[in-house]
Amino acid sequence: MTSLADRLRERIRSEGPIAFSEYMNAALYDPEDGYYADPSFTTGRSGDFATAPDTGPLMGATLAEPVEAFAEQGSRLVELGPGSGRLVTDVLDQLSEEARQRLEVVLVEPFEARQQALADRVEEDTGHRPRVVGDLEPVEPGRTFLLANEVLDALPVDVLAKTEDGLDAMHVDLDDGDGFVEVWQPAEPPLAEAAAPVAPRLPEGGRYELSRGLEELLRSVAGTLDPGVAAVFDYGGRFDDLWGQGSSGTLRAFREHQHAEVLEDPGEVDLTADVDFSRVMGLADALGLAETAYGGQDRLLVHLGLVEVARQRDRMQEVKQLLVPSRSTGFGERFRALVLDRGGVADTLDLAVDLDDPDVWTRAMEDMGGEEGLAGLGSDLF
Ligand SMILES: C[S@@+](CC[C@H](N)C(=O)[O-])C[C@H]1O[C@@H](n2cnc3c(N)ncnc32)[C@H](O)[C@@H]1O
Repeated sequence: MTSLADRLRERIRSEGPIAFSEYMNAALYDPEDGYYADPSFTTGRSGDFATAPDTGPLMGATLAEPVEAFAEQGSRLVELGPGSGRLVTDVLDQLSEEARQRLEVVLVEPFEARQQALADRVEEDTGHRPRVVGDLEPVEPGRTFLLANEVLDALPVDVLAKTEDGLDAMHVDLDDGDGFVEVWQPAEPPLAEAAAPVAPRLPEGGRYELSRGLEELLRSVAGTLDPGVAAVFDYGGRFDDLWGQGSSGTLRAFREHQHAEVLEDPGEVDLTADVDFSRVMGLADALGLAETAYGGQDRLLVHLGLVEVARQRDRMQEVKQLLVPSRSTGFGERFRALVLDRGGVADTLDLAVDLDDPDVWTRAMEDMGGEEGLAGLGSDLF
């Protein structure tokens, strides 16, 4: 089989430069050679990057609190893009037996080649066999608690740059040595149309990453929550904070926990971009989902009792990794949490909260002995 890089080269030779989103889609999701198609894909120490659930069970154990309350009425827990299955395993581990019995667990793993192993692993670790589907289509609308950790940042993006003449889009071409290089071309329809809501707000010279698949994904989430809540975690921020003042771009590649070249070795490196949460909220609103909480991921976890959960499990050393944005290892406030609701469910689960309220943070800090107490805790991920 020709390598993914060779297939992309052939395509560029015959079609000319391809949109960056096409390149990223192939690099991450090519059915044979895409980065996420690899059955051995994992996160954490032996992967190329670590996600918050890799720090230990505290994130899942904390999220189990609202899931437990939600399960009282019989319902379904869905996780989009569960990767290793760590997060859902940690949630299930913390639930009462009654709650587990009442929950149908559905995992959305796009690659068939990884579905069986994922179901086996979660069953082995929790005794609970999840239903695994490739997308949300076969999941009937119903009472749903949905989790998505670091999924939106993995959606293919187009990279746009505002020029004095309009909007350019990054394309991928070949140099004389057959290496992949970026070239810029005016954004044409339908990309220009998709970018129309943000283009006038981009300052000249500024870059912006636009995921055209985001709307479809949110539409399928909105169609599933009937009623329900979605708790979405990712790095990113509001448009004005990250792109509105002029950004040099947030697209990046990772290999073995280091930054790598974006256009080198498609399928071998992770590609990712920050999430524009203003756009997520705008699209969600148009789809009938209400935003009930938005802010630092650390704040939402603290609000839900992270410190208490850690203390009960004698895992205070791990709290710091979820709170401090240190080095590349901390999962502090540069990670954002967004709760979307249909039907007033969030309110009943303590998931309708103002995360900018300083009291949320102050109480947790006092609980841990202030900055001094926090400084005394461990800081390294591995
Ligand atoms: C960065 S990994 C995060 C894995 C895991 N959630 C974690 O936190 O460790 C992103 C995952 O999202 C999956 N993904 C991407 N698009 C998806 C979609 N439309 N539906 C479900 N999963 C998706 C990818 O296949 C990949 O496994």
